[in-house]
Amino acid sequence: MMPAAVGSPLVWPRQALSEALRSVWPAAQVDVVSSTPSTNTALMDWVRNGSSEAGPRLLVAEAQTAGRGRLGRTWVAQAGASLTFSLALPLAPGDWSGLSLAVGVALAQALDPCDGPLPADAPGVRIGLKWPNDLWLVDRQAPGRKLGGILVETVAVGAVRWVVVGVGLNVRPPVGEVPAGVSLACLAEWLPGITVPDALARVVSPLAQALKQFESTGFAPFAPHYAVRDLLRGRAITLSHHPDITQGVAEGVADDGALRVRSAQGLSLIYSGEVSVRPDGFPHVPITPMEDMA
Ligand code: BTN
Repeated sequence: MMPAAVGSPLVWPRQALSEALRSVWPAAQVDVVSSTPSTNTALMDWVRNGSSEAGPRLLVAEAQTAGRGRLGRTWVAQAGASLTFSLALPLAPGDWSGLSLAVGVALAQALDPCDGPLPADAPGVRIGLKWPNDLWLVDRQAPGRKLGGILVETVAVGAVRWVVVGVGLNVRPPVGEVPAGVSLACLAEWLPGITVPDALARVVSPLAQALKQFESTGFAPFAPHYAVRDLLRGRAITLSHHPDITQGVAEGVADDGALRVRSAQGLSLIYSGEVSVRPDGFPHVPITPMEDMA
C-alpha cells in the first residue's frame, strides 16, 4: 500500500486512540485539530483554565503555527510529514526525575520493538535516544540524525499536578526545500509505508502504559531499556549552558535519569534543566530500510 502523499487528507483512527487511552484512563478524551499554535500550549492553557476536570486529554494537531521545543527553541513541522501531539494527565509519581527519558523509551520501543541485549549479528536498534529527550534514527556504526523530540511541562491545579507530554516526530520526508545545514531523519527511512496517523496509533497505548508505570515506579525500571538505546554512552560530548563542565565523556544514565559525565572535574551527574548536550564528531551512515510495512 502506498502511503498517502504529504498534503492529502489524513485519516485518524480516533476510535482506536480513544479505546487505547480509555483502557488506562476511562475518562480520557481525544481531539484532532487541523491547526493550533502549539499542542503543548493549548493543553497547558486547558489545564490552567480548569477544563481538565473530565480527565486526561490527547490533542493531535495536523499543523502547528508556533510549535515549541526544549530550551525555548521553535519546533517546525510540516502537515502530513510530521506527527505533533500532546497528552495531558494528572500524575503523582514519588519522583519526577527521568520522566522525559521514560517517555523516550516508550516511544522508541513502540516504533522499534528490538530491545534488550543485542546479539552480535543483529542489525542493532534503529531508534536510539539522545539524552535527555531526543529520538534519533541510528545505524550500528553511526549515531545518526534526529527523528523527534519530547517536551514535558507540568502545571499545578490546586493540590494536583498535571503533566503535558508533547511529542514531535518526523514521519515522512518533508516536501520542498529543507533549510541549509538541517539534517533530520524521518521514520519512513526505516518503516517505508508508515503514515503520520499510523505512527500515532503505534505509540499512544505504549505511551499511556509507560506513564502509568512511571507514576508507580519512577524511572528505575526504564533505565536498562534506556541503556540499550543510549546514543551518548562512551562518547565525547560538549555541554552548553552548564556552569562548570563544557567537555566530557558520557558514562550512561543514572536510575534517576541524570546523565553521568566524566570530565576534568571527575564524575558529575547532570540533570536536564537548561543543559544542552552535543555528541562530538558523529558521522552519517545511510539507514537500510525495513521491508515496506504494507
Ligand atoms: C525538542 O526536541 O526540543 C522537543 C520538541 C517537542 C515538539 C512537540 S510537537 C507537539 C508538542 N507541541 C509543541 O509545541 N511542542 C511539542
